[in-house]
Amino acid sequence: MNEWESLRGECLNCRRCALAETRTNVVFGEGNPQAEVLCIGEGPGEQEDLTGRPFVGRGGKLLDDMLEIIDLSREKNIYIANMVKCRPPQNRDPLNIEQEACSQWLETQIRLIQPKIIICLGRIAAMKYIRDDFKITREHGQWFERDGILRTALYHPAAILRDPRRRPETFEDLKAIQAKIREICDHTY
Ligand code: URA
Repeated sequence: MNEWESLRGECLNCRRCALAETRTNVVFGEGNPQAEVLCIGEGPGEQEDLTGRPFVGRGGKLLDDMLEIIDLSREKNIYIANMVKCRPPQNRDPLNIEQEACSQWLETQIRLIQPKIIICLGRIAAMKYIRDDFKITREHGQWFERDGILRTALYHPAAILRDPRRRPETFEDLKAIQAKIREICDHTY
């Protein structure tokens, strides 16, 4: 078994925090583990918990549509994973202790995928994977480099569903991501 498959197997059996008691499924992530682009969300909601797949609810459908505009898809050329792999009850924010217990899974996924670009979906992911005082309204769509990986953030799809006025800005951000991919990623993108 390769390192990716053994990581997945271990993660699916994780009992490092109390969310293991209430989850239906661990949501490990999905997509192409050789992708040059990694999307990071916050944590599973109800549909994700029920299916074991990231971003499959209404927000997930919007995310897929947004990514398709710039020829990105989880079937082909990106990987999508969450910071926290199990759904907190009633969709409450994950506690620090839960985030800390979980963070090693995503850290290892990043090490194995070796993405050139990380797209944080929403403020919480941006605060962990770009900068801890990240301001999503001011800094979405901007580029930051950390550990040799270029990083940017989009509004979370659920936030765009709540406030459709965020769509035009998000469209601009997607175009900027497409330009950056053309600049630094493999020609297959
Ligand atoms: N929101 C997230 O951040 N991740 C999911 O997988 C679903 C909704």
